[in-house]
Amino acid sequence: MDISPITDIPGRDRLLVDAASPSFTEDVVERVRAYGVAFVPGWLTDVKSAADEFDTAFRVEQGEPEGLTDTGKNLSRRYGRTVTGEQLKLTMPEVGERHKDIAEIFRSPALADIANGYLGTPNTLNRWVILTHDYRAADEILDFHFDDIGTLKFLVYLDDVDENNGPFEAIPGTHLRTRDIRIQEWLRLDDYNKIRFKVFSSFSEELFYVLYGQFKMFLRAKRVQFTGPAGSLAVFDTDTLHRAGYLAQGRLRRVARSSTYRGFYP
Ligand SMILES: [Fe+2]
Repeated sequence: MDISPITDIPGRDRLLVDAASPSFTEDVVERVRAYGVAFVPGWLTDVKSAADEFDTAFRVEQGEPEGLTDTGKNLSRRYGRTVTGEQLKLTMPEVGERHKDIAEIFRSPALADIANGYLGTPNTLNRWVILTHDYRAADEILDFHFDDIGTLKFLVYLDDVDENNGPFEAIPGTHLRTRDIRIQEWLRLDDYNKIRFKVFSSFSEELFYVLYGQFKMFLRAKRVQFTGPAGSLAVFDTDTLHRAGYLAQGRLRRVARSSTYRGFYP
């Protein structure tokens, strides 16, 4: 593992991609490769009908949502509680059958090009589409973490997102170091529920320093917040430390995101 400090940590501007760029796909892939994350403000101009479908999907869902595990993980197979709301985990064929405007977003050829460019082929595009509805106020929706299984994620805001309704945040440039940590965790534990995915709260200051070459407060200070209008797109490697930030009382955030895996993912 490389343990030199991560020095190439850019600000927000370096991570932005213009939706109208003639080299859109390449621009996104270049940023995700270099920093683990790219953001496209206003990628789609109208997501109203997709947002309506989002509301319908939750309205028709039957039964009680599954709870979180004792380590705060959400392992729900379909309809589950999150710390600040609830989520629905759907397959792409399900979305195609029931929610055609949401399906159209994730069937965009640009997303397939980005996945092919970043992960190579074969990959399993949009294996899951997850609708997340956050509405319970919290200092943060979920602390900085990596996802246990590394994926490429496309995250689309269905509401305007400002600093008070759970903006997506990432610490750019952490994806390669964190990938090593994730693999070490799996080698040591081989248990989904035990993997320590929240690195700031799970690791001691000393261990954190050994792994990232800097203390927690300094790395946290490099976080970038992605505020933007409904229809904005974040593309990120889930090994990039990421979180959803502050959610104020009376505010909500609707997000549709998908996971794309390396190779074939049944
Ligand atoms: Fe995550």
